[in-house]
Amino acid sequence: MENRKPLLEVRNLKQHFKVSRKFSVKAVDGVSFEIYPGETYGLVGESGSGKSTIGRSIIRLYDPTGGSILFKEEDISGKMDKKTEKNLRMKMQMIFQDPMASLNPRKKVLDLIALGLDIHHPKMDPEERKKKVYDILDLVGLSHEHASRYPHQFSGGQRQRIGIARALVMNPDLIIADEAISALDVSIQAQVVNLMKEIQEKTNIAYLFIAHDLSMVRYISDRIGVLHFGHLVETGTTEEIFENPIHPYTKSLLSAIPHPNPVTERERKSMTYDYASSGIDYAKGVLQNVGGTHQVLATEEELQRWTAVG
Ligand SMILES: Nc1ncnc2c1ncn2[C@@H]1O[C@H](COP(=O)(O)OP(=O)(O)O)[C@@H](O)[C@H]1O
Ligand SMILES: [Mg+2]
Repeated sequence: MENRKPLLEVRNLKQHFKVSRKFSVKAVDGVSFEIYPGETYGLVGESGSGKSTIGRSIIRLYDPTGGSILFKEEDISGKMDKKTEKNLRMKMQMIFQDPMASLNPRKKVLDLIALGLDIHHPKMDPEERKKKVYDILDLVGLSHEHASRYPHQFSGGQRQRIGIARALVMNPDLIIADEAISALDVSIQAQVVNLMKEIQEKTNIAYLFIAHDLSMVRYISDRIGVLHFGHLVETGTTEEIFENPIHPYTKSLLSAIPHPNPVTERERKSMTYDYASSGIDYAKGVLQNVGGTHQVLATEEELQRWTAVG
């Protein structure tokens, strides 16, 4: 994977919000990671850690305060020319937690899914438009009859399929899924995640999968980034993170997951982590390589302490 070119490169991204004349919230404060074609990168962290802000900055709902974002080797973090912006609007798509909020209740599914086509290819032949939508309905496991129905006639899981269909119609290279399945029942979550995996196998699309629930992230992600207070504290393959967590925040997150096996569940010890009293200053750490693609935000001293045997 490493000798391929990344699809998305986020370098030292900062997103600060001015909340008063004197104060600003450093929602994202120097985050770097990359996503390769066809890969799923899971972004995890507690509520308020900056996950949504990262997603929104990447798709340029915000102007980044600092750092750079490269998408398909083009800088999309500053002022974009028309061609770059068009490429971004077509080839990067986002799906949200509440698909209903973004689905116009008075429009039929056909027109909802075709919205991107109508914006970017307004002169498309109506038959071709319909065929494209039907092909996407096949891909997301909905039937052609569904095209003439309205959003309220669908279940939560089906609505999320419509949301995914809407994103897919542009044939994107990257989908940012921000808590896209968090509101669904667990069994439905699994169906939607499996669908996303199937689509990935067929299309080689990449996902930035944002979630606070680690069990689904573990299941879908190739690599994971752990976010805390706007800093990426640890990143690595799903295996590296789950088998050998190094940062105390990652350890506390993982220790909070219940084990399905009652025997090991009885042995499980929740670890608490309090940044304020930890003596750690995220601003002083740097991302240190600890083998493979595994990196931890730490000072030299912290890294030695956290990786000491025994
Ligand atoms: N537009 C905004 N203005 C001011 N503060 C914001 C804004 N958006 C997010 N924040 C703050 O930035 C931090 C990160 O928020 P967010 O990215 O939504 O976290 P997450 O998605 O991980 O829950 C929070 O402290 C939040 O209150
Ligand atoms: Mg969020």
